[in-house]
Amino acid sequence: MSELRHDIESLRGGAVRAIRSADLDEKTEIAQATAKLWQARRLSLRSPRDLAVPDRPGRPDKPLLTPPTQVKKRSLHTLHGRIALLHALAHIELNAVDLALDIVARFASERVPHSFFDGWMQVAFEEAKHFRMVRDRLQTLGSDYGALPAHDGLWQAAHDTRNDLTARLAVVPLILEARGLDVTPSLQVGLRAVGDTESADVLKVIYEDEKGHVAVGAKWFRFLCARERKDPAATFQALVRANFRGPLKAPFNDVARAEAGLTPAFYRSMTASTNH
Ligand SMILES: [Fe+2]
Ligand SMILES: [Fe+2]
Repeated sequence: MSELRHDIESLRGGAVRAIRSADLDEKTEIAQATAKLWQARRLSLRSPRDLAVPDRPGRPDKPLLTPPTQVKKRSLHTLHGRIALLHALAHIELNAVDLALDIVARFASERVPHSFFDGWMQVAFEEAKHFRMVRDRLQTLGSDYGALPAHDGLWQAAHDTRNDLTARLAVVPLILEARGLDVTPSLQVGLRAVGDTESADVLKVIYEDEKGHVAVGAKWFRFLCARERKDPAATFQALVRANFRGPLKAPFNDVARAEAGLTPAFYRSMTASTNH
């Protein structure tokens, strides 16, 4: 790790190195080392020697990436089903590591306060932690990340917003991460009901951290809207229509969403029943 720190010259440089790495131990280590150095105020924001932000993150040969429709849902009552759930979750967390770092690296020249980068590096640090926790759990259950196919929609949804920070925040924290708040509590209940408390405890940690991620997203989304004198809820709806395929899925976890600053005015009118 100390060797690694010498190679991190700037926040953007560290973020790009982590995104490019196809070795997932290295990727998560660089992400966390960069976050710590940045929080300790030991990195500049950019260096002229930073590598370019890649179009796609570095990934190992496995898992095989498939269109979303080909990934089947399985029952939590079987070990196989729980492994499938954890595998899907590991894939989401891995994407979340790269997505948080991509916001930092791609928008490092944006006119935003330094605390913007503090928030997103905290998110990147926690996503790296989540990926490792879920991967450890998969290994304990006799599997590993890469053993099953995974779907490729997440990166694409985010990549489509690469030129617009406000749109990126609408899609990544305020749709994709907020969706996690909706579905995680019932998955936790389901895992406890079948006696898999260890996996449920991992989901609990993720759930608590993810409230913070949505809050970081909502805070900076509102900041950008205020700066441009735009209404946040109306702007969110316009950006979702322009950048996200399909309606938002109810039911929503209104309480957790509101705690994070994402009030129903943002999303209530965008569900399948009202959005034809
Ligand atoms: Fe996460
Ligand atoms: Fe997250």
